[in-house]
Amino acid sequence: MAKQKTAFVCNECGSDYAKWQGQCSDCRAWNTLAEIRLGPAATGSRSVGRAGSGAGASRTGFAGALAGARILKDIDLDELPRFSSGVGEFDRVLGGGLVPGSAVLVGGNPGAGKSTLLLQTMCHLAAGMEALYITGEESLQQVAMRARRLGLPTDKLRMMSETNIETIVAALEEFKPRVVVVDSIQVVHTAELSSAPGSVSQVRECAAWLTRFAKQSGTVLVLVGHVTKDGSLAGPKVLEHLIDCSILLEGTDDSRFRTLRGQKNRFGAVNELGVFAMTDAGMREVTNPSAIFLDRSTEPAAGSAVMVVWEGTRPLLVEIQALVDDRALGNPRRVAVGLEQNRLAMLLAVLHRHGGLQVGDQDVFANVVGGVKVLETSADLALLLAIVSSYRDRLLPRDMVIFGEVGLSGEIRPVPSGQERLSEAAKHGFKRAIVPRGNAPKSAIPGMEVMAVAKLSEALDALD
Ligand code: TYD
Ligand code: MG
Repeated sequence: MAKQKTAFVCNECGSDYAKWQGQCSDCRAWNTLAEIRLGPAATGSRSVGRAGSGAGASRTGFAGALAGARILKDIDLDELPRFSSGVGEFDRVLGGGLVPGSAVLVGGNPGAGKSTLLLQTMCHLAAGMEALYITGEESLQQVAMRARRLGLPTDKLRMMSETNIETIVAALEEFKPRVVVVDSIQVVHTAELSSAPGSVSQVRECAAWLTRFAKQSGTVLVLVGHVTKDGSLAGPKVLEHLIDCSILLEGTDDSRFRTLRGQKNRFGAVNELGVFAMTDAGMREVTNPSAIFLDRSTEPAAGSAVMVVWEGTRPLLVEIQALVDDRALGNPRRVAVGLEQNRLAMLLAVLHRHGGLQVGDQDVFANVVGGVKVLETSADLALLLAIVSSYRDRLLPRDMVIFGEVGLSGEIRPVPSGQERLSEAAKHGFKRAIVPRGNAPKSAIPGMEVMAVAKLSEALDALD
């Protein structure tokens, strides 16, 4: 009998080894290696896509194999027809819709609304195509109750409560749906492995099985994945190479807004942001989110500035707050929430050197309101001016927006899509703007006074 092939996989990071060892050399975790059997699923995957490479194939068996290689420009692009998920914000993050044969991972904290969003999507998709929803976490009754409460069309969607991968794949092969949701990948398991459901070896094996089915049948596979305590998707390394598209549904507990963000997408850009509101009628799309994170009802306060950031293909107005306070104890603290910590430290140095403002003996806190994460450098100038505003305890004008990147020599650098950012601000009633000189509009924007600055000192002067 042929010897059974096995390998060892780290349950923390997913690295694999031929032999057991006490510590994972990659992530340094102790005692996390679990044995996995390279069963038909794992070894079978090696031969997928290598037509004719059967075990006994002789060298001559490959003659003419190159005929399968085609010139890039001759490849028919119609082979990639997308179809809409029926939810515009979801399509936007997917890069324009679902691609047959692709695998999409939807991640998020428990309670983020993954099951709700996907149930709504699937109920509507089922009207036009074969759709199957496999729930491993909730019972069929629970899902049915939710669907009834949300008033969803329930007459077409096929439901299945199952966690065993062999049964799931058998059902998929029989039913051949055009779209299938597996909620969640962490509860699916195979009897072939002894490790617990949710462990890296189980997740990896089951996901490989499902994605292979998707590729071969052209079914769209949507996997739901939970985020672990440290904020990463369970077994991200394991799933990374298997899936085509990874999106994250995020939201803070105290906010009803949820953002859907692409992290990896083989079929489109990853910088798109979809916005939803969790309401008593389920997840509702927010199609015009540019000002939802802006609360203009509260009293104006020093240390607050409004900036225009660019998310994917559209502008978003967000408020940034800074608090500069006498250091309480020990080293001054620099805390950034929703912004990059290192960038804050860098900007404070620029402020000292080129703006003449020394906050070395002060605690500095910065926060982006509404739980938005800003990764763009266009927030630099607004952050600096918010800090100055807090330090001097002077309000910034309430009808002013600010954007621009700040360089190490105190220069204000232009950012992409300046004109669109200004128009969006004007649309929301802003009357003044401080922008980089490179972003000064070519023609005046009605009702908007634009101050174009080239240096930090000019921006500070504009405040006086
Ligand atoms: P759920 O979709 O079950 O989250 P996940 O699958 O990501 O774990 O969403 C559950 C949360 O959403 C729960 O806290 C209740 C809330 N919710 C509403 O506020 N309104 C609704 O209509 C529904 C269905 C859920
Ligand atoms: Mg759920």
